[in-house]
Amino acid sequence: MDKDFIPALSLRGGGIDAFIETVFRNEGRTWLARDESGPVGSLSFWLTDENMVYVWFIGVRADLRGTLLGGRVIMQLMSTALQAYERENPGDAVGIRFTTWESNSAAIRLYRLLGFTVVGKKENDMVEGRTTLFYEGEFSLIRGRLMRLTHGLCQ
Ligand SMILES: CC(C)(COP(=O)(O)OP(=O)(O)OC[C@H]1O[C@@H](n2cnc3c(N)ncnc32)[C@H](O)[C@@H]1OP(=O)(O)O)[C@@H](O)C(=O)NCCC(=O)NCCS
Repeated sequence: MDKDFIPALSLRGGGIDAFIETVFRNEGRTWLARDESGPVGSLSFWLTDENMVYVWFIGVRADLRGTLLGGRVIMQLMSTALQAYERENPGDAVGIRFTTWESNSAAIRLYRLLGFTVVGKKENDMVEGRTTLFYEGEFSLIRGRLMRLTHGLCQ
């Protein structure tokens, strides 16, 4: 998924290893969705000092995108991850936070469906022409919505 991100993850300071190290440093978790061929999607997150679940590295394998399957994989992954987190750390997380860029229309439609709202915007962020959108949602609201939307989907 490296080059699907703007800018590509490998072109940012420290490259992809820096992303993985950040997840470890923050005692975060990474969840992978897989089928018989291997991993098909992933997301990582950790809890910030403000008790917000900070999510990044969201994505599905390219050949699964654009058919609603990609969205379903992410919804199932997010639902499973948040439920597991809540079981282990009841009441700790109050919200969910992440960013994307304004031209990432499939991701934006998916986040809207899940009930996230844009709480901030930064133009020319990291590279010329990238407008970063800052998203937030209330933890229990999003968790409930995800549980309803993924009801009946396979694990
Ligand atoms: C972001 C990403 C996971 C989205 O997956 P996708 O397969 O491209 O998107 P989908 O086709 O599943 O979902 C997008 C659309 O389906 C809708 N959708 C998805 N699941 C749905 C459902 N169960 N019910 C109704 N609508 C649904 C979304 O609202 C959206 O609407 P549209 O029909 O107008 O396009 C994928 O594009 C990706 O991995 N991109 C590369 C990495 C990336 O950009 N990550 C995000 C960085 S923050």
